[in-house]
Amino acid sequence: MRMQNHYKFIPLITLLLSGVAGMATAADDAAPTVLITGSNRGLGFEFVKQYTDLGWNVIATCRDPDSADELNDFAARHDNVAVEYLDLLDHEGIDALADKYKEQPIDVLLNNAGLMRGPDLYQMIGSIDYDQFDRFYRINAMGPLKVIESFYPNVKAGNLKIMAALTTGQGEDGIPVPGFSLYKTSKAALDSIQREVAIRWKRQGVKVVTLQPGRVLTHGESAGPEQNTVDIEDSISGMLVVMDNLTMDQSGHTINWDGSLVH
Ligand SMILES: NC(=O)c1ccc[n+]([C@@H]2O[C@H](COP(=O)([O-])OP(=O)(O)OC[C@H]3O[C@@H](n4cnc5c(N)ncnc54)[C@H](OP(=O)(O)O)[C@@H]3O)[C@@H](O)[C@H]2O)c1
Repeated sequence: MRMQNHYKFIPLITLLLSGVAGMATAADDAAPTVLITGSNRGLGFEFVKQYTDLGWNVIATCRDPDSADELNDFAARHDNVAVEYLDLLDHEGIDALADKYKEQPIDVLLNNAGLMRGPDLYQMIGSIDYDQFDRFYRINAMGPLKVIESFYPNVKAGNLKIMAALTTGQGEDGIPVPGFSLYKTSKAALDSIQREVAIRWKRQGVKVVTLQPGRVLTHGESAGPEQNTVDIEDSISGMLVVMDNLTMDQSGHTINWDGSLVH
């Protein structure tokens, strides 16, 4: 298991008092804290940048910190960013990270990482590859649930108590062509998990929101003129506004980056 130590995040006095080597707490106790999965690129990295600009403590996780050059460079320039290892397929690793941060309240737990692929023949009904089925569901549904379970105590201890996850549209309201079925249905499982989590921890004041970022060109692809794309900065800032204004009544719902209710 790979884990990076970010001693800039750990006041010396905390280590001395706790006597627990490797325990981590936020750089700035007064600032809110967010944990983001899949922080090394795409939407996750933009979340890191915008939360950092707002002065939050950012626990920026990714599955291969050693090769996350842009993220590491960014973290080296910002005291409030810690880069940590988190692979959604590695449940022991997720528990180890939760243990490392067990004294750290988390205001927003952001399940951003996902396996986003397609169109693929192996994702088309009629030629489904069931090994891929397993991989998609483990990364897009089971992994985020494991993150939620492991970091629940941190979120409960936080002020904002928000658990957010990124999803995509379903059926004809989603990607309107075949070849994305494993991606779309694994995200549908995630949507359902989010609703279950909302019910489970409603009385504890945890607000659960599922976010649709819109179509953002994170893979260097180009979109046709008829495709409704959203600039990455607008998508992320829009989702930050949604989370900033989130009410308990909205918990369990899916909300678009522009604030409109999906369901
Ligand atoms: N972009 C869009 O238009 C769009 C639309 C709807 C929903 N979404 C959702 O928004 C989220 C972010 O999208 P994006 O466009 O930024 O995607 P992306 O560019 O493909 O980035 C995906 C991120 O997830 C990480 N990841 C993949 N497998 C992982 C694993 N096993 N453990 C931990 N991290 C893993 C990737 O890490 P590596 O770099 O190591 O692979 C990467 O950081 C995804 O959940 C996606 O489904 C995006």
